Amino acid sequence: MTAPHTPSAWWRSAVVYQVYPRSFADGNGDGIGDIAGLRARLPYLADLGIDALWINPWYPSPMKDAGYDVADYRAIEPLFGTLAEAEALLHEAHALGLKVLLDIVPNHCSDQHVWFQQALRAAPGSPERDRFVFRPGKGVNGDTPPNDWVSEFGGPAWTRTTNADGQPGDWYLRIFAPEQPDFNWDNPDVLAEFETTLRFWFDRGVDGFRIDVAHGLVKAAGLPDVGPRSLPAHEDAHHPHWDLPGVHAIYRAWRKIADSYADPRIFVAEAWVHPGDRLARYVRNDELHTAFNFDYLVAPWRAEQLRASITGTLAAHAQVGAPATWVLSNHDVAREVSRYARPQTAAPLRWLDDLLSQPADFALGLQRARAASLLMLALPGGAYIYQGEELGLPEVEDLPDAVLQDPMFAQTGRKSRGRDGCRVPIPWEGAQPHFGFSPPTSAPPWLPQPAAWAALSVSAQSGVAGSTLSLYRQALQLRRSDIGLGGYGLQWLPSPEGTLVFSRGSGFVCMVNVSAEPLALPAGAKVLLNSGALDAQGRVPADTAVWLQTE
Ligand code: NOJ
Repeated sequence: MTAPHTPSAWWRSAVVYQVYPRSFADGNGDGIGDIAGLRARLPYLADLGIDALWINPWYPSPMKDAGYDVADYRAIEPLFGTLAEAEALLHEAHALGLKVLLDIVPNHCSDQHVWFQQALRAAPGSPERDRFVFRPGKGVNGDTPPNDWVSEFGGPAWTRTTNADGQPGDWYLRIFAPEQPDFNWDNPDVLAEFETTLRFWFDRGVDGFRIDVAHGLVKAAGLPDVGPRSLPAHEDAHHPHWDLPGVHAIYRAWRKIADSYADPRIFVAEAWVHPGDRLARYVRNDELHTAFNFDYLVAPWRAEQLRASITGTLAAHAQVGAPATWVLSNHDVAREVSRYARPQTAAPLRWLDDLLSQPADFALGLQRARAASLLMLALPGGAYIYQGEELGLPEVEDLPDAVLQDPMFAQTGRKSRGRDGCRVPIPWEGAQPHFGFSPPTSAPPWLPQPAAWAALSVSAQSGVAGSTLSLYRQALQLRRSDIGLGGYGLQWLPSPEGTLVFSRGSGFVCMVNVSAEPLALPAGAKVLLNSGALDAQGRVPADTAVWLQTE
């Protein structure tokens, strides 16, 4: 029987730290982060005050999409280490009180996956090909793609194969890069294979999975053209390859597997769907546990939009009894310091490409990002912190073309700068790159770090009053204490336009000033933590948040 969303379960209010393994810490000196580096830095994460890690894909991969092209779901990429090291990491993290979530990629695999290689060698209509989405092309010679679907990385969503006799053959669907063929989730082999993979990692003690492209697995019968659409894909309830009702049966089956363990395992969905009601369908009682709330991530720093996102998310999740999950950044979007450094119009900000033409004030961006982190960590539910967020790292906006690796860059004909700017290895210590990312004499980091990051390194900020790292440490410590952030209620309090003020528990108040006017504290309030200095009259200035204990 499926366990209900237990009110006291750890994941309902967990703070999860996202480790992007190739950029977190390099243990073997090849300039690419790995499991050895991560193991050595586990004490840092435990000390930060998080509850769990989510590790981006660490499986064998040709790295055409930074590991999201998985060649073998039940092994470790040699660049990152070995299965024995992964098991040791799980053991060590658990000993420090940290849960570990992995990343599962069920929509597509690598074109080097054994199944896809078998499918390419097999005949059209064969069982091997049925595990993927092969179709003949249109037109006299079949040289037009089977439908009009477009890749998320640019260009058509189809790649044509070559038959054994050298003649052009059928096409296969790949919503992302050509090297990422989509699975056919109508094929029972696919369901069985992923269930085996879940158990493989759960049996080794993995506490859960983040599900990549969770809304994409099922495609509309007959693969109809998208045609002209009035809504953006993620808002379109009738899109032929996003958010189809069939995905929910898959997650019900996965939930049963997760619940079959004595200490039930959990899932978090990466599902870019809109509005909140549709997202909430993924976190019904017998489906997934949590889902990233991207509506909040892309919301500009404007009080009304933030308030609407928070209110809408909480209401939608309440309908199904699931907690909300807040996130400000990840390895796919421009870092929030750089997003908030730009003029905040009503339009959502997501990619570096959205920012480049806009004037930037990075000091302001950091000030807002610090306030945003106190707002996020005061909200009911779980929160995700992307590595380097606790250091206040900005997006690296000027990486030279020659080092860019994200397939978006090439696939858009170099129009999009892609996502490498948020994936630069993080600075640990020292005056110059590689800033302790690797052992002393090592290959340079796989992406170059800006020299200015010396001031943002972990050691430069540790123990420094007012640093962003100190702010995160204090916030996470307070969140775990008894100040009232444990439950799920949130009460908006009356406040001037452009401000967000709410209470939680008994006496905790969070005030966020998104307006230009200073905001007075309630009489008798005790300041627990503030994201920036209060003004001479003890008021909260613009772009600043405070946590208070009131009577
Ligand atoms: C979402 C992942 O977060 C992203 O990095 C990846 O490129 C796509 N899914 C495809 O797997």
